[in-house]
Amino acid sequence: MPSPLQKKSKVKLCWASGNEYKKTNAIKEPIRILKNSTSGNLLFHSDNLTSVNYLLENGFEQKIDLVYIDPPFARGEKYYHRLKNVENPAFEDVFKGKIDEYLDMIYPRLEVIQKLISARGSIFVHLDWHLLHYVKVIMDEIFGYENFRNEIIIKRGRRKNLLYQFKSIDRMHVANDSILWYSKSAGTKFQHPLVKNKRNSKWMGFWSNVNRPTMRYELFGFVPERGQWKWSKARALLAIDNYKVYVGKFADIPLEEYWRRASQNMEFIRKRQGVKYPEYWIPPKTHVILDNIWTDIEAYSYSTGYDTEKHEQLLERIIGQFSRARDLVADFFCGSGTTLVVAQRLGRSWIGCDCSSTAIQVTESRLERSDFSLIKALMPRGKYCSGPVS
Ligand SMILES: C[S@@+](CC[C@H](N)C(=O)[O-])C[C@H]1O[C@@H](n2cnc3c(N)ncnc32)[C@H](O)[C@@H]1O
Repeated sequence: MPSPLQKKSKVKLCWASGNEYKKTNAIKEPIRILKNSTSGNLLFHSDNLTSVNYLLENGFEQKIDLVYIDPPFARGEKYYHRLKNVENPAFEDVFKGKIDEYLDMIYPRLEVIQKLISARGSIFVHLDWHLLHYVKVIMDEIFGYENFRNEIIIKRGRRKNLLYQFKSIDRMHVANDSILWYSKSAGTKFQHPLVKNKRNSKWMGFWSNVNRPTMRYELFGFVPERGQWKWSKARALLAIDNYKVYVGKFADIPLEEYWRRASQNMEFIRKRQGVKYPEYWIPPKTHVILDNIWTDIEAYSYSTGYDTEKHEQLLERIIGQFSRARDLVADFFCGSGTTLVVAQRLGRSWIGCDCSSTAIQVTESRLERSDFSLIKALMPRGKYCSGPVS
């Protein structure tokens, strides 16, 4: 049944500042191209409201296939780029306790980003518990509730659970961040995301204790009185025949090899003497299909010394699974440039933006050997952009 929200009944989030964002949206900063390239890859040193508006006005409407953003989480901390014993300020998250200002900041940016995304494209927004649920409501408003795909749960970084020191606690230690995934269009289909996971073939009992009388039929002269066989009768009989053929004519080669050579759709059932139930063969696997809990990979990395740096594994998964070769990938809060480095490696074109000069320096040095244009806004410090700018 369609959800009530799918019928464009509007649920809107209202906040105290009276939608200041409408004013911020009007800001247009002059732009200067510092370095030109032929690759089409663009790195902006600017407030991202400037860069997204610039892109919209310069032919990028519906051209970006995948956006990943990792905006400040409203934790109210200062972040640095740490190299050996030197700490350079990177940016300050100025939003602690200022939900309305945060929403003023994020709303107009998401609004323009939505216009930049292609019809088959999607966006991944990385957040934590501070504002995840507020941004979800805003994303529903801008992207459409029906375009919400998943909340992806990932592991937080190295912070230890320090709460164990106390006798009582007021909340549990938070060990996850979340990524909200939205598509541009409701009809878009994606390939199953796969992760490498080698598993050998094995035999398993063909009887299950789920009680379905219609799935109890005669196999090897035996009809179970309760439970059920796992497959339909026709499928089971074919699998028994397949195994007979293998044993009769090809038993000198391992079953797995026979299966590979014959047809990888072939199924087998056998009955061993002394074993109560028949057994069916589960083929070897090289991959498993991912669900939305991604705790098998790291989300944070400490390779560049840029606080809040995300792990390349995370971006490899997002970009590798949810975009295609030569797609255009963008990150408008690019920090140390993880998204751009991974996009480059995976053969995607990219656009990056950050308002902090420290972030731009780190990104540039990570992208040292790649070709990109560098674009600078002449007034890079917008209202919501803190950190060094020169
Ligand atoms: C959490 S960090 C991103 C880290 C990044 N994912 C990485 O792997 O290094 C957020 C970044 O957003 C930038 N930022 C915050 N507000 C911005 C704005 N209005 N325009 C552009 N960049 C902004 C900060 O300077 C900071 O580098």
